[in-house]
Amino acid sequence: MNKQIVVLPGDGIGKEIMKSAVRVLQAIAENFNHQFTFSEQLIGGAAIDQDQSPLPQATIQACKKADAVLLGAVGGEKWDSLPGDQRPEKGLLGIRKELGLFANLRPIKAFSPLLHASPLKEELVNGSDILIIRELTGGLYFGEPKKRIPEENAVVDTLYYTQEEIERIIDKAFQTAKTRRKHVTSVDKANVLESSRMWREIVEEKSKAYPDVTVNHLLVDAAAMKLITNPKQFDVIVTENMFGDILSDEASVLTGSLGMLPSASVRTDGVGLYEPVHGSAPDIAGKGIANPLGMILSASSMLRQSFGMEQEADEIENAIQTTLEQGYHTPDLMIKNGTVVGTEEMTDLVIGNLATNEASKCICNS
Ligand code: NAD
Ligand code: IPM
Ligand code: MN
Repeated sequence: MNKQIVVLPGDGIGKEIMKSAVRVLQAIAENFNHQFTFSEQLIGGAAIDQDQSPLPQATIQACKKADAVLLGAVGGEKWDSLPGDQRPEKGLLGIRKELGLFANLRPIKAFSPLLHASPLKEELVNGSDILIIRELTGGLYFGEPKKRIPEENAVVDTLYYTQEEIERIIDKAFQTAKTRRKHVTSVDKANVLESSRMWREIVEEKSKAYPDVTVNHLLVDAAAMKLITNPKQFDVIVTENMFGDILSDEASVLTGSLGMLPSASVRTDGVGLYEPVHGSAPDIAGKGIANPLGMILSASSMLRQSFGMEQEADEIENAIQTTLEQGYHTPDLMIKNGTVVGTEEMTDLVIGNLATNEASKCICNS
């Protein structure tokens, strides 16, 4: 297959982990006889430095024409004092909005060799398999007004949703739950927020169309506690933009590291954007030690969801499993008795463990 992939490395470790993802995809292309064409574009701080904008028009146009988009991470101290609408993060929010990517799917499932890498008890982590579906283009992040009000010595952010915006993300949650363990937990703050009360009504109404899917509602504060005290109760979690942002970083603890989590930002049809959950990690950027697995898993999710390449995606995920079984890990994973490797070495190991590469190794050795 011939696919055009736009690559947005961004800032900090975004650049380092993107190299890993592209190398893995190149290996897959070679092994499976695909043609992947990578077009690198600017976003975030890198785009501000070169183009005075966190989201240049050329980037938007390239993404709209692509078969899929891969994104590393944006942001860094250098740009932290810029006004809100000129910050690197605005580039990321902008491309999600431009592409209409209203659903962000964040799977949380620990690889078996990492069950003991979490600070949580192994018996609590073992068997948990959660998909957080975060609403991505509305809610508190996008509502207007959003501004300083100097004459009142005040500030305002707005949590705004249309009924249609809530309905489509709830539909996405029910439809996805049907392909999994058929349970949806809707997380809100309905004891305080009017937007959450409407959200809850819509969940109840929509649930009638999915009689084979069970539903419960949790308030976000309690949900945050239950995620790490009894994660096995969850299948699909659906929630507002900012709640989903916070809960997914928390849930990453189950997998051993925030660096393990991939995500897919999608719409009902059209181009998808695949991005790890973590940020540009300025504290470790440039050191060559970032965990590339969340980014590589985002690339495999792209193969599966945008290109229908199930076998190719399985091969990447199996290679990661094998590499972890062999005891290799980047320093963010707190594992005793393992072998600590850097970003590039981890990438080499994963590529070496791709089944097709393994098979050719066997032939060479025999
Ligand atoms: P962060 O996710 O960048 O880092 C949080 C912690 O996790 C750090 O200690 C970091 O070293 C560690 N970490 C994250 N990813 C890792 C990886 N792959 N391997 C090893 N360790 C990893 O969050 P932050 O420090 O709060 O934010 C830093 C910058 O990133 C900010 O500018 C923020 O706006 C931006 N950010 C961007 C995105 C994105 O582009 N999707 C997401 C979150 C934060
Ligand atoms: C994420 C990030 C972004 C978000 C920021 C950088 C705008 O935290 O992708 O999780 O909050 O959506
Ligand atoms: Mn986040």
